[in-house]
Amino acid sequence: FKKITTGKNDKGLKLYDPGYLNTAPVRSSIGYIDGDEGILRYRGYPIEELAEKSTFLEVAYLLLYGNLPSQSQLAEWEFVISQHSAVPQGILDIIQSMPHDAHPMGVLLSSLSALSVFHPDANPALRGQDIYNSKQIRDKQIVRILGKVPTIAAAAYLRLAGRSPVPPSSNLSYSENFLHMLDSLGNRSYTPNPRLARVLDILFILHAEHEMNCSTAAARHLASSGVDVFTALAGAVGALYGPLHGGANEAVLKMLNEIGQVDNIPDFIEGVKNRKRKLSGFGHRVYKNYDPRAKVIRKLAEEVFSIVGRDPLIEVAVALEKAALSDDYFIKRKLYPNVDFYSGLIYRAMGFPTEFFPVLFAIPRMAGWLAHWRESLDDPDTKIIRPQQVYTGVWLRHYTPITKRL
Ligand code: ACO
Repeated sequence: FKKITTGKNDKGLKLYDPGYLNTAPVRSSIGYIDGDEGILRYRGYPIEELAEKSTFLEVAYLLLYGNLPSQSQLAEWEFVISQHSAVPQGILDIIQSMPHDAHPMGVLLSSLSALSVFHPDANPALRGQDIYNSKQIRDKQIVRILGKVPTIAAAAYLRLAGRSPVPPSSNLSYSENFLHMLDSLGNRSYTPNPRLARVLDILFILHAEHEMNCSTAAARHLASSGVDVFTALAGAVGALYGPLHGGANEAVLKMLNEIGQVDNIPDFIEGVKNRKRKLSGFGHRVYKNYDPRAKVIRKLAEEVFSIVGRDPLIEVAVALEKAALSDDYFIKRKLYPNVDFYSGLIYRAMGFPTEFFPVLFAIPRMAGWLAHWRESLDDPDTKIIRPQQVYTGVWLRHYTPITKRL
């Protein structure tokens, strides 16, 4: 792992690799993707099996600790996370002080980073670099984050609707409690539909982990400096906020609304081919085949529509997919629907506002980010991430006093 050099005056091998297309900065045993075959596995388990048989909290345990939990481990895990679901009043006050139309990803990002000052016991800058050697301190931050993030997200959602936060309930499952905290129509005794709660739980499973994507790389990048885990994950939320990453499901809905009806698809596709815009929810850095998560989500959409009614935009989405998949531009470039193509339609049918879609991605991805954070702490090869650059500027100049500059 030393710099590769050929001699004393050689500054070392440097790869110019924009977007890190050929760079693997870590070794990881958490998630596996085969983009050509359309395969995604968490700790060796196919995503389709987990989506069908598991629950989000069980999957979070698997990602974090490497194996599926026993019955008693799962019961303890669910209990402890629910015990950590309350959020300090100071954080709720920060949320209340934000503009009423604050983007919920901005609210989540700020609240998560604020948690670092509310939990100084977990801050290496205050307590010393070795605090995370303690399993107890690490595990505490993990359950804190998994417990509190849905509560923060729900408060951000209610802020948009001009309503005050609803306290979490420890009698409900993770997804049911989250839906309960959204306090549908201001009815505090609101009980979520169990089928919709299950759909949300499956969506959480599908979004929990995706190896070295932009936000996970950001989390590992920040964590490599030794910063506290709340700040590292706030950075990951920042990366996920972008329209090319977690913001894509929001962009898909805007795009489908713009297209409006099936007749407008040919013109839209022409615009994409003429590079006027991208087809949101299509294409992926790794998948050069159908994203396996998109296949599961496509079926889930029908389940949701059978409960809440059919969204007319689904016809536009299906026709758009068909048109793109039979067009040479998309075939040649191996562009297929990704996880975001159909998820927005489900979220919309469930009544979520578009700005909230990336938050619904961020909540379960906490599990993946935390698993990577934990893995990086145990990895003897972990170093502060400090890539190089290829300097293209002026070689050397000398300072000219301001009176002598032209
Ligand atoms: N619409 C139209 N053309 C596209 C699209 C698209 N959605 N995606 C890629 N292309 C084209 C590019 O223009 C490029 O064409 P060229 O070779 O003629 O210049 C070619 O396909 C390769 O694309 P790149 O941008 O080089 O691929 P990259 O791996 O860098 O980008 C990305 C992947 C960012 C996901 C891209 O496909 C994209 O912007 N998609 C739309 C946004 C989106 O859906 N993002 C969500 C991704 S999934 C996630 O983050 C959860």
